[in-house]
Amino acid sequence: MKQRGGSTAAKRRAGERAAEAVADGMVVGLGTGSTAAHAIRAVGEAVDAGADVRGVPTSFQSRQLAIDAGIPLVGLDEVETVHLAIDGADQFAGGDLVKGGGAAHAREKVVDATAERFVVVADPSKAADALDHPVPVEVLPDARSLAAERVRGFGGEPTLRAAEGKDGPVVTDNGNLVLDCDFGAIDDPGGLAARLSAVPGVVEHGLFVGMADEILVGHGDGVDAKKP
Ligand code: A5P
Repeated sequence: MKQRGGSTAAKRRAGERAAEAVADGMVVGLGTGSTAAHAIRAVGEAVDAGADVRGVPTSFQSRQLAIDAGIPLVGLDEVETVHLAIDGADQFAGGDLVKGGGAAHAREKVVDATAERFVVVADPSKAADALDHPVPVEVLPDARSLAAERVRGFGGEPTLRAAEGKDGPVVTDNGNLVLDCDFGAIDDPGGLAARLSAVPGVVEHGLFVGMADEILVGHGDGVDAKKP
């Protein structure tokens, strides 16, 4: 699994702390990435111990991890609510996030936005005073040139994400491409999010503005809980 950001121990502490909030009867959104993976394993241990929990995966990766961990899965369209979503982030500033380092942000945003409570799990390397991480933008393949041009018009520099272990671009779980768009420091995440969403052919972007209910940051000997 790709290790974006800081130490494994910090990620594990954050992921395991988040999983402590999982209770009997819950539907839990299962995020993507190396930090959320620790939470998924911990939820699997709760299921092993007898908890009646169902998971809604956000990606091929989280689905596979959940199967390996023994978590019963359910589709978003089969449940009335998601009680809790646990997901990682590439960067956070206040309650705003950049996500999509694993190209899973479209499905992550749907699940995280549906959840009654969205808990972000992170290590300290993800903290920033202002968001300046390149924003992943998932685009329909035919729309990539138009979307790249619009992003330049918004003051960003788009780069088509290249695959590793395959010639050519990353293809998302939804069959689309990803433009990593560098805007430098983002003064107005909400405004940029609205502009990106309005571009034809943009499936979803990785700005998660004001969505997080709590951010759990693992560190050397514990976890800091931040309520934005
Ligand atoms: C997946 O597309 C991302 O949104 C991840 O949640 C994000 O990249 C965090 O990943 P790590 O926990 O591996 O740093």
